[in-house]
Amino acid sequence: MTRKKIVAGNWKMNMTLEEGKSLIADLKNNLPNTLNNVEVIIAPPYILLDTAQSALQGSSIHIAGQDCHQESKGAYTGEISADMLKSVGARFVILGHSERRQYFGEREDLLAKKINAALTAGLKVIYCVGEDLTARESNKQNDIVAGQLEALYALTADQMQQIIVAYEPVWAIGTGKTATAAQAQEMHAFIRQTLAEKFGQDIADATSILYGGSCNPQNAAEIFAGADVDGGLIGGAALKAADFISIIEARSK
Ligand code: PGA
Repeated sequence: MTRKKIVAGNWKMNMTLEEGKSLIADLKNNLPNTLNNVEVIIAPPYILLDTAQSALQGSSIHIAGQDCHQESKGAYTGEISADMLKSVGARFVILGHSERRQYFGEREDLLAKKINAALTAGLKVIYCVGEDLTARESNKQNDIVAGQLEALYALTADQMQQIIVAYEPVWAIGTGKTATAAQAQEMHAFIRQTLAEKFGQDIADATSILYGGSCNPQNAAEIFAGADVDGGLIGGAALKAADFISIIEARSK
């Protein structure tokens, strides 16, 4: 089963307008055409999306939002809707990132609504799951991730084809500590099996599952070697064009 290889960069709350423009220009100018077997996505902060979209005309790099609100519009000061993301050219949105779960209290019931809003607007969703250190140390990682996947369970088979899953163990995010390639592969296989039980093997086999958590040019090739690891969701290393491109190169092989 062929499924898409994807490398996505999550800029989080980084980059001023000038810094962002310069990073986007570096990516656009230096990403070799030969890496076009990998879908490349960047998720800059909201205020850079329109600039990014214009600057990336003629490039194969797609843009994504880092989050969206569950309603399509209205009196929600400070929020951004999926329709707004779509209107500036975003094709994707990251939902359920562990930082949203941890600092903004997002849970599966809310995330199911956000996923629905995103799909209704015509966006593809990068849905993040991952256990924290306590869960990993008590060997509860599968239970935690299975619970997080339930936010997808109301989707139809067609909708499920618009979903990319990102496994990001919280203890590996921004810590310099990655899951081993074996731990990543084991969890990715578990996620695929869980999706197969719910949606059938064909859909599970067609779903790209990305790894995230201190992925860098040094460790990317080893992590991507796992049969169920289809790419990466990259934080810190996505802020340097050369590092991000090296990771895309590692996935391209
Ligand atoms: P990191 O972040 O690569 O800086 O660990 C990954 C993420 O949170 O998406």
